[in-house]
Amino acid sequence: MVKVDISGALGFVSESEINSLDTRKPLETLKTLYENGWMELPATFSAELSGQIKSLSDNIKKQSEVLIVLGIGGSYLGARAAIEYIKSPNYNMLKKNTPDIYFAGNNASGEYLEQIFELIGDRNFSVNVISKSGSTIETAIALRFFKAHLLERYGENGLKDRIYVTSDIGSPLIKMAQESGFSYLEMPPEVGGRYSFLTVVGLLPCAVAGIDIDEIMAGAKEEYENGLEAACLYAKTRQALYKKGKNIEMLASFEPAFRFMGEWWKQLFGESEGKEGIGIFPSYADYSADLHSMGQLIQEGERNLQETFVSFNEPRQNPKVPGGDIHSDKISAIAGFDMHKINMSASEAVKKAHIDGGVPVLELGLPVLSAKSFGALVYFFMRSCAISALISGVNPFGQPGVEAYKKNLFAILGL
Ligand code: PA5
Repeated sequence: MVKVDISGALGFVSESEINSLDTRKPLETLKTLYENGWMELPATFSAELSGQIKSLSDNIKKQSEVLIVLGIGGSYLGARAAIEYIKSPNYNMLKKNTPDIYFAGNNASGEYLEQIFELIGDRNFSVNVISKSGSTIETAIALRFFKAHLLERYGENGLKDRIYVTSDIGSPLIKMAQESGFSYLEMPPEVGGRYSFLTVVGLLPCAVAGIDIDEIMAGAKEEYENGLEAACLYAKTRQALYKKGKNIEMLASFEPAFRFMGEWWKQLFGESEGKEGIGIFPSYADYSADLHSMGQLIQEGERNLQETFVSFNEPRQNPKVPGGDIHSDKISAIAGFDMHKINMSASEAVKKAHIDGGVPVLELGLPVLSAKSFGALVYFFMRSCAISALISGVNPFGQPGVEAYKKNLFAILGL
């Protein structure tokens, strides 16, 4: 369960200002909007769906040492975030009995694609192409490259066995899968791209990485059942701060494994809230690293920032600072301190400095980096994001602004 602490914001906005933002109407509206299908996913996740995902992931694990996940935005960020958070940011470099996982189809760089082919080398590989619309250009182009490589290496039958399609029922990609005999998984159409991690979109790559997808869904379910109040509090507080001119939210964590979760969060909040001339600009900072790049601006730049720290009570590993008198600096005095204590002290120090410097700090607390807390956090953020967008008066679903660049690109390419 996600715990929300707003005490670090109360010097900037009062409780009555926060509570004046009513969440009843947004919650009523949410029930009526198409694309709200993600709300019930934790309750409707079945043993049958879990089994279907695991059986496809077992196939992939048996046939390949590498899985390529093709997708962009909501079709890849969640899976990448989950693998980094639950396994490791260095997942591919770990000794393990699950395939390496590379992500492509999220840019139009030829160099990036060529480097992935080099990384695959002569290892066996499979492809999971994920696109809700089935027509996103970067993903569609990458698929053509990977299909050509698969065909060259494995022939028609191998190609058929090694492409796994995830897309909306009836999309061009599903039709192509049906015509070509590829395995496919259908996404529920009433679940939008950036709200789709808890479907086959996020769960298949996670299962291939050896992550317990039932644990992810158990965490989401706990949050679904008990987390409404916390989600409303986070939504209301950030919107109350926005009204005070705090129009940039910096999500920050002191765990490097959280970094890609920050990328997923940026898309979720950015595309859900940034429309009709309003929206809190979502940004992410990786502490301590970014204290030495962004720290100056956060501490003393324009006072339009609000910050949200995400922290974990229990470390997965907790080594102690080695002793010995090899160094004569005063840091030797903390020999024997455990790293969790030091990391928590850093968080406390930064929180105090930023509040003193005029930045309100909200805190989200979780027990430990795990599949369960990842599922909880995903559901917490999706729910609070939808409520927050509706408090501000915009529809959280749809992303009409994303079409502008696509139209230009199609025109420039003469398509
Ligand atoms: O939230 C959304 O729907 C979008 O940002 C999509 O995730 C993104 O554009 C990718 O689209 P698709 O899955 O259709 O390829």
